[in-house]
Amino acid sequence: MQLDTTEPLGALARRALGFVKDDTVVGLGAGRAATAFVRVLAARVRDGFRVRGVPVSEATAELAEELGIPLVGLEAEIDVTVDGADEVDPDLNLIKGYGGALLRERVVAAASRRQVILVERDKLVPRLGSRGRLPVEVVPFALPLCRRRLAALGLGPALRTAGERPFVTDNGNVILDCVVGSIADPPGLERALRAVPGVVDTGLFLGTADTVLVADGTSVSEWSRHR
Ligand code: A5P
Repeated sequence: MQLDTTEPLGALARRALGFVKDDTVVGLGAGRAATAFVRVLAARVRDGFRVRGVPVSEATAELAEELGIPLVGLEAEIDVTVDGADEVDPDLNLIKGYGGALLRERVVAAASRRQVILVERDKLVPRLGSRGRLPVEVVPFALPLCRRRLAALGLGPALRTAGERPFVTDNGNVILDCVVGSIADPPGLERALRAVPGVVDTGLFLGTADTVLVADGTSVSEWSRHR
């Protein structure tokens, strides 16, 4: 499939290529924006660019392989990861996981020297939680307990489904989508969630993004964290 780079996602993907150097290891994210990037990167690989990819999901792995991007595991340090997000606040903190790949996204982000996030303008929020949903990944055995504990925290957890069945992540876990409003204390909420036995990850990605590329139509602006 040809990617139309006049579209916002194509414009983002092309801009993200500027962060990838020849002969490096690249984390490959999940979702529409990250998929657009995988397609653009694959075209570059066909032109002789030598990168190895570390995918955050089985779907991304399948696509990358189909498009001819060589894949590796986490043995090597990842130079840059390009991924999407569901919310971005003014300090470049994120909510991720609407696509269900949060746990591996976290692992790949942690193994990366740099995380570059691609979003369209509608993902920018004044405070995390503004879009109303926070995914939390839990092990199936602990589901009843996690559900009760998250409900007690006032988070209205709903089990994510795929058709008639629970949605199952690439790690064999399930997802509780929590109802949140604008979150007053994201680190505090993160601590409270992680204290629940059986919670393996949350969609709060605080301080992981180094750069966020924001598409407004086909114009792309760049925000970077100053460390
Ligand atoms: C996957 O679990 C998510 O974190 C995605 O990165 C996120 O949902 C962004 O996806 P889109 O680019 O499709 O909006």
